[in-house]
Amino acid sequence: MVLPASRRVKPLEQVGPIWFFCAIAITLFLVLFCIVYFDCGALLRSDGKVLEMRRGVAIKKALVGLNPSLECDWLDGEWIWDEKYPLYNSKDCPFLDSGFRCSENGRTDDLYSHWRWQPKHCDLPRFSAKRMLEKLRNKRIVFVGDSIGRNQWESLLCLLSSAVSNRSSIYEINGHPITKHMGYLVFKFSEYNCTVEYYRAPFLVVQSRAPPGVHKKVHTTLKLDVMDWMSGHWRDADVLVFNTGHWWNYEKTIRSGCYFQEGNEVKMEMNVDTAYKKAIGTLFDWLKAEVNRTKTQVIFRTYAPVHFRGGNWRTGGSCHQETTPELISALSLKPWSHLLNPISKYSKKYGMSNLDVLNITEMTARRKDGHLSVFYLGKKGPAPLHRQDCSHWCLPGVPDAWNELLYAIFLRHEVKMHRNAIEMGNKSVRNGR
Ligand SMILES: *[C@@H]1O[C@H](CO)[C@@H](O)[C@H](O)[C@H]1NC(C)=O
Ligand SMILES: *[C@@H]1O[C@H](CO)[C@@H](O)[C@H](O)[C@H]1NC(C)=O
Ligand SMILES: *[C@@H]1O[C@H](CO)[C@@H](O)[C@H](O)[C@H]1NC(C)=O
Ligand SMILES: *[C@@H]1O[C@H](CO)[C@@H](O)[C@H](O)[C@H]1NC(C)=O
Ligand SMILES: *[C@@H]1O[C@H](CO)[C@@H](O)[C@H](O)[C@H]1NC(C)=O
Repeated sequence: MVLPASRRVKPLEQVGPIWFFCAIAITLFLVLFCIVYFDCGALLRSDGKVLEMRRGVAIKKALVGLNPSLECDWLDGEWIWDEKYPLYNSKDCPFLDSGFRCSENGRTDDLYSHWRWQPKHCDLPRFSAKRMLEKLRNKRIVFVGDSIGRNQWESLLCLLSSAVSNRSSIYEINGHPITKHMGYLVFKFSEYNCTVEYYRAPFLVVQSRAPPGVHKKVHTTLKLDVMDWMSGHWRDADVLVFNTGHWWNYEKTIRSGCYFQEGNEVKMEMNVDTAYKKAIGTLFDWLKAEVNRTKTQVIFRTYAPVHFRGGNWRTGGSCHQETTPELISALSLKPWSHLLNPISKYSKKYGMSNLDVLNITEMTARRKDGHLSVFYLGKKGPAPLHRQDCSHWCLPGVPDAWNELLYAIFLRHEVKMHRNAIEMGNKSVRNGR
């Protein structure tokens, strides 16, 4: 049978569409390659939306489709010098204790604020305050822990507020000033109806007056089996960031008349490490029983090392001459294993999928240069050399890097939850619901 002329295909006509297709494919490939691997943002920068999309693509590329065990290890990395840092200036941030404002308190080298954490095998998503605030709309992010947690919380306030032009739209809901205090502070970003909160709970469990009838050297006790009184306030937060550690030592407990209690019994013989383990156990039991993991992302930020040289905070230890990080590779975590091991143990037991560990101990151990040292007294000038603070951190500074990691973990969680929701949806479709 002879085909009608119109349906007969000449060789050249067949080649035409293939070339056309190839040209399109090559163009598309080049465009994608350019977008993903090079900073073609410069071409697009006039259009913020396109730029935001480009970032979105890059972040999705980094997150989607990666098996959790294959995920890039953000913690395997190094501190690198970056002129573009810090991400804010303390002078522009009203949400900082004067004690953290090192440069305003007389520290003249600002080297410590120019280091950025760079993972070896990938990049961290670039911190975008706007994007984080959008994702926190109508939500609460709560920090619970000691004053190093407060250090991190204030860093996040500065990072986020840099995207808000009207500073008076950010306020403490009870009108409390950001100075030393015993309770809690709740900052509202009213344009986003979101709150960034800090609750002081250095031990995470309850500290209370000694029960009647105990030895008179017992002034207070830590109830190792009861979460902090305020825990009802954090329970329903959307993001919960815990930390503890700096108060779990002999000085701040037994030596100060603070003993350990289980049930009604004060355990006069119990040592600090045992008590700490029990308190961490209580935290995880509480998470399991009280926190709705569909709603709340739980993050535990690990211990941030101190850097007193030649003594401790009471005996003239110092860090004021440190101006560069440790630029060698990984430091041993042995000095803090008693604080870290219980976290590893319980987080495994609790299920890694239920908890994000903001594992900053090792990277932070390398930053002996980032502490307040003598620059914490405000306008009164530097503190005496024998009264140095080598526990807290200058801001801007090291805690900003923790928050960049927090941001990455926050985005990753969202992708995970989204994926879970799709899987749940498919399951219920399969089950005919
Ligand atoms: C603001 O956020 C809270 C949760 O933090 C929510 O209960 C409330 O409905 C939100 N308000 C508005 C106006 O969306
Ligand atoms: C800034 O925010 C405050 C408090 O929300 C509001 O009263 C004021 O009108 C805002 N100013 C501008 C310029 O939007
Ligand atoms: C947990 O949170 C999710 C999402 O907010 C909600 O739909 C669910 O009802 C909550 N579960 C319980 C037991 O409260
Ligand atoms: C934290 O990272 C260290 C290595 O820096 C690792 O040895 C440890 O197991 C990690 N801990 C947790 C709880 O992930
Ligand atoms: C869920 O179903 C959609 C379409 O029905 C499919 O494209 C997707 O791969 C499924 N996802 C999972 C995780 O099974």
